[in-house]
Amino acid sequence: MMRDKSYAAVMGRKNEIMKKAVGIDYSVFESGGISFDYERMMADAGYTLEEIQRIQAEVHVGNTPLIELKNLTALARKLAPEGKGARIFIKDEACNPSGSFKARRAATAVYHAKKNGYKGVIAATSGNYGAAVASQAAMQGLKCIVVQECYDSKMTGQPEILEKQRACEALGAEVVQLSVGPELFYTFLCLLEETGYFNASLYTPFGISGVETLGYELIAQFREKTGKDPDKVIVTHAGGGNVTGTARGIIKANAKNTEVIGASVDLSGLHMASDTDFNRKSFTTGHTGFGIPFATWPDRADVPRNAARPLRYMDRYVLVKQGEVFYITESLAVLEGLERGPAGNTSLTAAFALAQEMDETETIVVQETEYTGAGKHPLPQLSFARANNIEIKFGDPDEEIPGKNIILPRHPSMIKARDFDLNKARTSYIKNCVNACNATKINQEDLRFLIEDTKSNEDFVSQVLKELNIEVLRKTGGKT
Ligand SMILES: Cc1ncc(COP(=O)(O)O)c(C=O)c1O
Repeated sequence: MMRDKSYAAVMGRKNEIMKKAVGIDYSVFESGGISFDYERMMADAGYTLEEIQRIQAEVHVGNTPLIELKNLTALARKLAPEGKGARIFIKDEACNPSGSFKARRAATAVYHAKKNGYKGVIAATSGNYGAAVASQAAMQGLKCIVVQECYDSKMTGQPEILEKQRACEALGAEVVQLSVGPELFYTFLCLLEETGYFNASLYTPFGISGVETLGYELIAQFREKTGKDPDKVIVTHAGGGNVTGTARGIIKANAKNTEVIGASVDLSGLHMASDTDFNRKSFTTGHTGFGIPFATWPDRADVPRNAARPLRYMDRYVLVKQGEVFYITESLAVLEGLERGPAGNTSLTAAFALAQEMDETETIVVQETEYTGAGKHPLPQLSFARANNIEIKFGDPDEEIPGKNIILPRHPSMIKARDFDLNKARTSYIKNCVNACNATKINQEDLRFLIEDTKSNEDFVSQVLKELNIEVLRKTGGKT
């Protein structure tokens, strides 16, 4: 029987299509209100750390080196006050088969798809995840389709996005190339329904638990090198899986005092779904255009409950500017002999600034690098930006206006990590939860969930709820 392919009909079948394509019945974790049983979802639907280590080892994912950046540390110390300048390390995730930590996520998703008899996998992504899924599908013998927003309406593509499109195709995937707009999700649903392939979503428990090995390995390697736990681990943040998986791995390694910091490129003012802004950004991930919406409303994802919940794990969130990241990308190459891509260098930029606030005896680990290539280098990015009338100059990065200019720091001492107020993000998240459920009252279970999901405390959540005129019922079991 031919199914109705109209937009409304396909959207109407969304839950049914997703259930088949992910194989998880999310309703069993639901409470009927704001809360859901996150840990049970991760345990029941995901894999144990030991299972994932075995799955990933078989496909050459993980066990990437941890490298001390002695020359960048020396530069940071030159700029820092006497006695300051923490040792900076990076975990070289570019050594994964597809060149980024996304291989960890893809390895478990593709393994799960194969185990459950799916013939192929589909991923909707413009990022490294497409290449990661393509690489894992090639290794594990499944078909792969990547649905990618590649172009603006004039069919012009951003160099980094085209780079990733080439990578997916080179790895044997079929790439469905779309221009920016709402048809992505519709096309994705149609393809899932037509092919019966697995939805290798970025946000399932399989994907996120795949990243736990990163945090776990990082701590084990760091202990072996230094005999201690790192003081800070800094994680480039976009959709939240990187922060979530890494932090969960750190917790599983029992590193109790390591601070987890998220870092994003500040692209405030640019709109992600806008055709005109699409090509005005020089960074395609690890930026605030994903980082803030996903932190404040993770369940916007393509699955009913997102396993990536960054506010649950972030101790601090800092922003850097595009020009600063280009500068550090070049510094990493010329000072350390490591040419790496933009996303990992986002947290490295922040680490370079934060190290200068920390004591010499302290340590900070940048938990990933990513590969670089023809479309990811600063040069094609800056040339493309200039062709889009974005001014490029040396100066004070604080004056950078996303989409208007890119300011390379006149001196490395001008590189900063700017704190984003996490309480602001937590407040928005609580508001979004309440609105999504149309709640006027919440029960104790929901209250506990909100405290955990925002890594805050009862006083903070109660105060936000009071400002929203939401009553908290005293006993568990009350209706929302
Ligand atoms: C190399 C790299 N680093 C970091 C990120 C951010 O990860 P997440 O979206 O899980 O926050 C991405 C995501 O696109 C990425 O490809």
